[in-house]
Amino acid sequence: MIYLDNAATTFPKPECVYKTMDEFLREKCANPGRAGHHMSVETEQEIEKSRVTVARFLGIKTPERMIFTCNATDALNMGIKGLLSEGDHVITTRLEHNSVSRPLKGLENRGLITVTWVNNSDEGFVTADDIKSAIRSNTKLIVCTHASNVLGTIQPIKAIGEVARKSDLIFMVDAAQTMGVVSIDVEDQYIDMLAFTGHKGPFGPPGCGGLYVGERVELKAWREGGTGFEPENLLQPDSLPYKLESGTPNSVGIVGLRAGIEFCIKEGINKIKEHELKLAMRLLNVLNSDDRFEIYGSLDENRKVGIVSLNIEGLQPGDVGAILDTSFNIAVRSGMHCAPYIHREIGTFPQGMVRISPGYFNTIGEIEETIYGLKEIADRSIEDRN
Ligand SMILES: Cc1ncc(COP(=O)(O)O)c(C=O)c1O
Repeated sequence: MIYLDNAATTFPKPECVYKTMDEFLREKCANPGRAGHHMSVETEQEIEKSRVTVARFLGIKTPERMIFTCNATDALNMGIKGLLSEGDHVITTRLEHNSVSRPLKGLENRGLITVTWVNNSDEGFVTADDIKSAIRSNTKLIVCTHASNVLGTIQPIKAIGEVARKSDLIFMVDAAQTMGVVSIDVEDQYIDMLAFTGHKGPFGPPGCGGLYVGERVELKAWREGGTGFEPENLLQPDSLPYKLESGTPNSVGIVGLRAGIEFCIKEGINKIKEHELKLAMRLLNVLNSDDRFEIYGSLDENRKVGIVSLNIEGLQPGDVGAILDTSFNIAVRSGMHCAPYIHREIGTFPQGMVRISPGYFNTIGEIEETIYGLKEIADRSIEDRN
């Protein structure tokens, strides 16, 4: 199987991730912070070591402010719903994944908040100036994806962060498509909250992610319960990370995430991004010169992650995905990509598109096979119509 669905989840994981998780689950996986025995203490130490690794990777100076979550969705909900109060205004973009747009739309529909959805260019970029123009006296939050999961376009988050900071607003970034491939520094980019998922760029397993909660942010607890900290307290503790981390954590996922991030650091995220982009650009350059393919988004490799989105003339994206899978043994994602606003804008609602997302372990040979498969499908479609 040629796996080209890395924007959904990276596969395979580096060997060190499998090995670390296997050893941890066999030898150390007790319930952390709940008991004084050495296995429990060791498990807690492993989690804290992982917290420090993630924090350093993102330029976070206070590791306690890095909260482990189940995934980006969990982190985004925790940040958005934990921050906003009745009467607040939020600025966001039309490029957002449902994990941002649904919580916002839900609060808006209940009459609790108002939301401005800032437009993007045809190529899929928003500007800091447009965000600035949307600021109102009751704006509390600017929330923006770092890279679109539909188009792969990287947004100018530092410029947007600067706008937010100058206006004393909270700036939240959804780094689900960038962590592990694009460098992130929460201080340098004026980020107050950063949500990420562990199973994509950082090469962790499913079920782990995180939320950075900066010093300018006070969040309401997302869920309350056992933390192993202050067990005598009748209320949820106030200190981080405990306030936002109730319930037995996914410790095996968290150490797997650490192994994945260590792999990214060892290889170098620039090298990882360059490889993924080289493969994506090969696809883009060949298919863009063939009229039968409609390509969406920007061709500017300096402003993209390795995502290629397209449709083939006369064919439904679901059928293209199914043929690639069954006739060519190639895995891509087709249909709608959990971001309905941008699909509407680029005219791919509701049928969607085919998204091809090469990863670090794909080869140029696999991309050539994919180009061959796509061209064959386009040829056959024309033959069928004649
Ligand atoms: C941009 C973006 N945000 C958020 C998410 C949600 O990630 P998860 O499903 O891991 O919570 C995704 C997943 O595809 C995404 O691409």
